[in-house]
Amino acid sequence: MCGIVGYIGSRNAESILINGLTKLEYRGYDSAGIAVYNDGNIQLKKAVGRLSQLEELLEQSPLSGSLAIGHTRWATHGKPSDSNSHPHMDEKGEFVVVHNGIIENFQEIKNELIEKGAEFASETDTEVIAYLLADMYDGDLVSTVQKAVARMEGAYALGIIYKHEPDKMIAVRLASPLIVGIGEKENFIASDIPALIEHTRDIYILNDGEMAVITSDNIQLTTTTGKPIQRDSFHVEWDVETAEKDGFEHFMLKEIYEQPKAYRDTLLNRIDHDVNKIDLSNEISLSQEQIRSIDKIHIVACGTAYHAGLVGKVALENLARIPVEVDVASEYRYRNPIHTPNTLVVVISQSGETADTLAAMKESQKNGVKVLAITNVKGSSVARDADEVLLTLAGPEIAVASTKAYTSQLIAIYLLGLYFAQIRETKNNQEITQYIQAIKELPAQAEKLLEFAPIIKEFSERYAHYEDLFFIGRSMDYAVSLEGSLKLKEISYIHSEAYPAGELKHGTLALITDGIPVIALATQEDIYDKMVSNIKEVKAREAYVLGITLDGNTDLFHSVDEVITIPRTLALLTPALAVIPLQLLAYYAALARGNDVDKPRNLAKSVTVE
Ligand code: G6P
Repeated sequence: MCGIVGYIGSRNAESILINGLTKLEYRGYDSAGIAVYNDGNIQLKKAVGRLSQLEELLEQSPLSGSLAIGHTRWATHGKPSDSNSHPHMDEKGEFVVVHNGIIENFQEIKNELIEKGAEFASETDTEVIAYLLADMYDGDLVSTVQKAVARMEGAYALGIIYKHEPDKMIAVRLASPLIVGIGEKENFIASDIPALIEHTRDIYILNDGEMAVITSDNIQLTTTTGKPIQRDSFHVEWDVETAEKDGFEHFMLKEIYEQPKAYRDTLLNRIDHDVNKIDLSNEISLSQEQIRSIDKIHIVACGTAYHAGLVGKVALENLARIPVEVDVASEYRYRNPIHTPNTLVVVISQSGETADTLAAMKESQKNGVKVLAITNVKGSSVARDADEVLLTLAGPEIAVASTKAYTSQLIAIYLLGLYFAQIRETKNNQEITQYIQAIKELPAQAEKLLEFAPIIKEFSERYAHYEDLFFIGRSMDYAVSLEGSLKLKEISYIHSEAYPAGELKHGTLALITDGIPVIALATQEDIYDKMVSNIKEVKAREAYVLGITLDGNTDLFHSVDEVITIPRTLALLTPALAVIPLQLLAYYAALARGNDVDKPRNLAKSVTVE
């Protein structure tokens, strides 16, 4: 959802910015631009389209200078065009702004400025910020920014430079992520760590309502009302290679293959092997009494994380015997949910920055409810503001289509469910031991499954030319179907729907005609026969069926056209394996259709606007 980057120091800023933007392109790729200060002037270069368009422009006429801000855009206000691209300037070209977020009252401010005679060049809310700064300038950039920000409502991460005070760069944050990188006689700003990691591992994370005044050898953190802030810097532990493609053609494929490692890392230090117990007591501060008294759980998330929540419902209800509701965060935050004093809200977010998830979390906390966050990013807004945090340790996920984050979320949910089950005594020792054994086998089973990628590639190439496709499944398989369908839609652009298999005959069966592809998941042993009946129903309407079932279920071969089998594990754990062929199907179908797998149209990795 837009990426911003900034540099102040003595090196040539252009290449630092372009490298940074390359790492942030996952946040938006409708257009890109940079502004560089040099010798009393600020020069701008912007180009609609991918970052490579901007790079071509800069090759023809490079910009030199050591103070610069840049942006890669995911369009909200105004279509992707050169004029709507960031950075934006005021009319005199003195204040330059890059922005991630939405200024909700921009129209009101814009109208006021128009009345004063301002003429705007773009349709964006961001340009209004540059004009507002110029209008409010009081002789000092810092106090002007503080006053302007006080007028703005909405969400913003801002990078600001001003022609007449070229010794500094300003960063401001409200509800959109922003970090400050600490260098040696140079400093940086960025929306996310990968943009800075080749220059520094030490960063300050800005919180909502905070700003940084950054010179080449100093970083001053304050609130946006000017109160000084003392903060320890954050040291990034992972290395550059984890954020690179590492020989894979796409980040998505690399991340699919990283799943066994992500499972192992997420399990690490959370199983007490001596006593065969899950131990989360170092991370979760809820007392045993509090865990015993939880009377309902609300899982809240968006996108793929929401799908992990749907698996989470079945897992937590079965393991810990706590009633669970699952909501999409953008619905939950406005639905006035009923909280009891002992409700636990579990938010799931890979990035920890999704605007709706964050807002849903805050709404719940306002009601006095405890929020436990499952997130992949230590130091993210969700991780910092939640009452309890359970980290997934999947490493940075770059591809827009989430894969290893989803499966690591499942692992975290299983751990949580088992931890609660131990304390609430809803599973006995023998059952807990069985689950722990099975979870420990998942990484090796996932590795085995990945060996079938070439076969799945062949299947995908056969499916790639279809425009409509259906997924069916029951229980856990239905939840996984939803994720498989989302993966396919987001990167291959094939229209697909996921249905609970038993519900198909209540309407959707009307769409099943000769040759329509149906992907049928049949991995749940207790309802296997019911699922086979549903498969026969679609076969009877001439659907072309790909079945996904457990190793050894050879009878399914007679009911479907093609089969993929997955290793056997406990029923509740099958989603962590069953989803892998679906991820690969989507990946190879997108590849066969010539799509940009890592950067699907209209989407962005981190949705930091409502
Ligand atoms: C975007 C991404 C999805 C992701 C969703 C939630 O839509 O494209 O892949 O599942 O946001 O993101 P989060 O970071 O909160 O898990």
